[in-house]
Formats: sequence, structure tokens, C-alpha cells
Amino acid sequence: MINAYWLLDRNITFLNHGSFGACPIPVLEAQTIFREQLEREPLRFLLREFEPLLDNARNQLAAFIGASEDDLAFVPNATTGVNAVLRSLCFAPGDELLTTNQEYNACRNTLNFVAERTGAKVIVAEVPFPIESPEQIIEAIIKCVSPQTKLALLDHVVSQTGLIFPIKQLVGELANRGVDVLVDGAHAPGMVALNLDEIGAAYYTGNCHKWLCAPKGAGFLYVRRDKQDAIRPTTISHGANSPRADKSRFQLEFDWMGTVDPSPYLCVPVAIDFMGSLLSGGWPELRAKNHALALAGRKILADKLDLRLPCP
Ligand SMILES: Cc1ncc(COP(=O)(O)O)c(C=O)c1O
Repeated sequence: MINAYWLLDRNITFLNHGSFGACPIPVLEAQTIFREQLEREPLRFLLREFEPLLDNARNQLAAFIGASEDDLAFVPNATTGVNAVLRSLCFAPGDELLTTNQEYNACRNTLNFVAERTGAKVIVAEVPFPIESPEQIIEAIIKCVSPQTKLALLDHVVSQTGLIFPIKQLVGELANRGVDVLVDGAHAPGMVALNLDEIGAAYYTGNCHKWLCAPKGAGFLYVRRDKQDAIRPTTISHGANSPRADKSRFQLEFDWMGTVDPSPYLCVPVAIDFMGSLLSGGWPELRAKNHALALAGRKILADKLDLRLPCP
């Protein structure tokens, strides 16, 4: 029984790994081992053992999400990733920051904050719901682009509606118009197959503590190579004046944002392996099965409530 791997309350049928994923027992056990290793000798762990472990976790995550490890940093969550990018970029009065009516509230607040501080304007594309096709999403967003559009903040998977945006086409269409995209992929890792290099966005942030079932506090930020110099973490720390030349400034800064418990990051490879071992077909079968279950659940609700299905 797969259920036996989770601590979940047996009286609850827990469906919402999208808000906060529950972490399987074998991953929690691995986390305990990392924490014990840290507590046995904090200096040795944090100054010597941590970096190779972090690099290994980053390499494995990079392979899972189709990115180069050089373009990837761990952050505690997608909100932090969105904040790092938006608060690093320079905007001026009259600039337009494009998003949609379905953007997640916390990230929309970040966009509003940055716009208020810089005099930029938030432009909201109205993505319809119910909806018939991905083309309607592209059309709704593209028609809001103007010569003043400096950046688009777009979800990969929308929180409120569960819509999967055609993100690769959107990034391409916006690039053709000179607009960079910050993709909020909070839900995507583990839910949809990812290839960040193919998507080609300037910035992509995601969470490993939702459908990937890593411990809470494991997110990532991908920044395309040509954009890395401008992006700084929300917390400036030792990396800012590190004399090291063996790593990019981007990673030196993001890899140490002050003392934290880094075990969630280190457990990401364990979560990728464990979840991928649950079914004989590995991750592709797991994603397909979860998707089929979501559609079946939707049909039960729609039938009971006598509703038309709101999207393909
Ligand atoms: C689209 C979207 N963005 C961002 C987040 C924020 O995730 P976190 O709280 O882990 O930063 C969520 C959380 O559900 C989300 O759905």
C-alpha cells in the first residue's frame, strides 16, 4: 500500500499536494539523517560537507527539470524566487509589467510592490475561465503587450483553476516581441514533465515541496545565463564579496543566504528517486496516473453539480 509511506491522517483523504505537499516517510528519514550529520559537528558540516552535498542535489534536480546545473539555485520556495527576480530588476515610470487575472496572490503582491516603488504599471491580461483552448490564453496575453512591456510574470500551472498554460509558446511569442518572462512554476515540478532549457524563459521558479513531495522549504530558481549578473538574492550575504572564482556570482550568492537548515534541499534527490520508484513506469507513469485521477475527480464533481467541464 503506497499510503503506508505517508504520515497522513488516515481519517482524511488528502488530495491537495498543490497547496502543501505531504512528505513521504523515507524522505523524512533521509532528512533526519542530514540533520543529525549537521548537529554532530555543525562547523564541519556547514563549512566542508554541505557544498558538495548541495552541488549533488542541484545536479540531480537539474537533470529532472531539464536545466543546466550552472543556471540553477535553491531557494526556500517559489515566492522567494519571484521576489528575488522582481526585486533585482530595474523598472522606471511608464514601464509595464504584464501578468494575468489568475496569478497567485502572493506573487501578484510582489509585482504590485515593485510597481509601486518604481512607478511601473501592472497590466492584467484577462484569461477566460471556462475556456476552450490554449490559443485563448495566448491571445489574451499577447494582446496586452505594448512597446512599454518590460516583463511578464506568468504561471505555468495556475493555482485557482489548475489550468496548465502553454508556457513554451507563450515564452516564444513574448520573446518575439522583446519581452522576458518570469515563469511561476510553483506547481509544475512532479506534476508536468519539465524541460526548462526548451521552455527558454529568462527566469523560472518552482517548488519541490508540492508534487515532488520533498520536505517543506525546497524550491529553486532558474536564471538563464545571459540574465544571471543582474539577479541577486533577497538576502545579501557572504557571496556578494566572495573572492572565489570557481563558481558564478549567481551561485555564490544564492547558495548561502545566511544560516538555515539546508536539509530540505539535500533531500530533493531522495524525493525524486523515491516518488519515481512508486510505480514500475517511474515518473511518467506517476504523472499520468495523477493526471487521470484529477480528471476522474473533476468528472465526479461536475456530474454531481450538473456542470459543464470548464476546460479541455
Ligand atoms: C502559482 C503559485 N505560485 C506561488 C506559490 C507559492 O508557493 P510557496 O508558498 O511555496 O512560495 C503557490 C502556492 O501554492 C502557487 O500556487
